[in-house]
This record gives sequence, structure tokens and C-alpha cells, in this order.
Amino acid sequence: MRVNGAPVATPVQADHGLRLLDYLREVLGLTGAKEGCGMGECGSCTVIIDGRAMTSCLVLVGQVLEAEILTVEGLAAAGHGPLQDAFVARQAVQCGYCIPGVLNSCAALLDRESDPSDAQICQALDGNLCRCTAYNRFYDAVHDAAAARHPNGAGA
Ligand code: FES
Ligand code: FES
Repeated sequence: MRVNGAPVATPVQADHGLRLLDYLREVLGLTGAKEGCGMGECGSCTVIIDGRAMTSCLVLVGQVLEAEILTVEGLAAAGHGPLQDAFVARQAVQCGYCIPGVLNSCAALLDRESDPSDAQICQALDGNLCRCTAYNRFYDAVHDAAAARHPNGAGA
């Protein structure tokens, strides 16, 4: 398993049945991923596993022993500083509880679509609930981040 670009010690057998969310928070001390529902419905625990945004409350450690995992703590080093900056600039963060998961969903989208449409952003955020109703600002921030990462336009 690699987390945020660095190898981590192979989880001991006793930890293979832990939820990835708990392993990240309680064993590795990466508390960015948040528990909301614990049932795969709110998206606050979303991390990126092998390039896909996934809810870490529904993944067991034993399922990702060979995976590349990215959490919000590693987003800037993975090239998503502009996305985080855009969320700040657009004032897209209110209480903040959903934001690590939202950022990971948006980052995974930007890694596969350099200039995503509103429909693609909507689809990417389908599993992320925000109680502070800032979705329009999420969209604006993703568009800003896409422009910042690829100033010459789509596909650059
Ligand atoms: S805590 Fe994982 S989806 Fe809600
Ligand atoms: S910013 Fe508060 S839940 Fe999203």
C-alpha cells in the first residue's frame, strides 16, 4: 500500500478487516477523511484509490493492500494545490466537514478530464453531500482549477 505517494508499512493481519477510513484516521493519523453516515451515502470519507474516488467507509484494508491511495493531506503534492486554492478563492468552504471528500472527488475528475463540463462535475459529485448548499461554488472552483492547471485550454 502506498499513501500520498509514499509506501506505508504493510498492515498487520489483524488490521485487514478494518475499514480503510478507520485505518487512515486511527492507525496512520490522517484525519482528513471524515465519517458522516458510515454507509456509503454521504461521501465525507471519500479518498482516491488507484485513481478513483471511493468511499473509504465501505473499503476494507485487506482489499487495498496493493493500492495507491490519495487523501486530502496529499492533494497539493499530487498537483491539486490549484483546486484547493480555488475552493478558498471562491469561498466554497463553509463548515468544511464535507470538503475533504468533495476535493477528492473533484481531484479524481480533474485527473481524467482536464476541462470538465458542469454535467461531468455534477456526476463526479453525485455521491458527496454538502449541507451548506455551496454546490455552485464547487462548480466554479473546479472550472477555475482546470483553467489554472491547463491555461491553454482543454487537453493542454
Ligand atoms: S461516511 Fe463514508 S459515505 Fe458517509
Ligand atoms: S461545507 Fe458544510 S457540509 Fe459542506
